[in-house]
Amino acid sequence: MTLLRDADLATAFDHAAQSYDTLVAANPGYHAHLRRSARRLGLPRPGTGLRVLDLGCGTGASTAALRAALPGADITAVDASAGMLERAAAKPWPTNVRFVCAPAERLAEAGVEGPFDAVFAAYLFRNVSDPDAVLSTVHDLLAPHGRLAVHEYTLSGRPAHRAVWTAVCRGLVLPVATALGDGELYRHLWRSVVDFDTVDAFADRLRANGFDQVRALPLPGWQTGITHTVVGRRADATARVAR
Ligand SMILES: C[S@@+](CC[C@H](N)C(=O)[O-])C[C@H]1O[C@@H](n2cnc3c(N)ncnc32)[C@H](O)[C@@H]1O
Repeated sequence: MTLLRDADLATAFDHAAQSYDTLVAANPGYHAHLRRSARRLGLPRPGTGLRVLDLGCGTGASTAALRAALPGADITAVDASAGMLERAAAKPWPTNVRFVCAPAERLAEAGVEGPFDAVFAAYLFRNVSDPDAVLSTVHDLLAPHGRLAVHEYTLSGRPAHRAVWTAVCRGLVLPVATALGDGELYRHLWRSVVDFDTVDAFADRLRANGFDQVRALPLPGWQTGITHTVVGRRADATARVAR
C-alpha cells in the first residue's frame, strides 16, 4: 500500500480526531509511556524558564505528558492537522502552552522560531516524507546542547516483535478503526511502522543529523521491542556527519 503523506495524512487525521482520544485510552500504557519519554528528556523539574517544542502534538496527549514532566516550561505544540489541533486546543491549558497549526516542514513560515531547550516528537517521524530534513530543522531550532526525545514505534528488528505489531494491528486496531471510518489511516499506521527504521537505524539517523549522546530506551508491556524513546542532544556544529 502507499503511505499517506502531507495533506492526505493531515486530512485523514482531521477525520480521526473525533475518536483519537478514545482509541489511545484503550491502549495500555499510552499516556504513562508518553510521560516516561518526556521525563527522559532529562530536564530539571519544574522546567521554569525553559522553552519546549512538542512536534506533532495531535490532540495534546504528548503536550500533557510534557506538562506533567515540566509544568513550568513554556510549551509550543505544533501539528499539521487542524482537526487534531482543534481537539487539543479545546482542552484546559495554562497560559504557558500555545498551539500552532503547521507542518513540521514549514515551521518558520508559521512563526515557530528557536532556540528551544528541548524538542519532543511522539509518533511523528515515521509520518514525515523526509525524516532527515525534519531532524535537521529540529537540530537547528535547538539551543546548543538542547535535548531531543523521539517517542516512536521503532521495531527492534526481531521477527517476534514485528509479528506482535502486525497481530495487534490486524486483530484489534484495524477492525475498530475501519468501523469508525478511519481504516485508511490505521492501515497507514501499520505499514508506516513496518517500513520505518528499526530503532538502531533511527538512532544512527539522529547521529548523522548532528545529535550526540544518542540512546535508545525501551518501553514495557506489549510495546516491548516495538515502541522506544530515542534521546539525543544537539552536538557541537562541527560534529555533524556529512550526508
Ligand atoms: C499519531 S499522532 C500523535 C499525536 C501526539 N503526539 C500523541 O502522542 O498522541 C501523530 C500526529 O502527527 C501529526 N503529523 C504528521 N505529520 C506531520 C507533519 N509533517 N507535520 C506536523 N504534524 C504532523 C499528525 O497530524 C498527528 O496529529
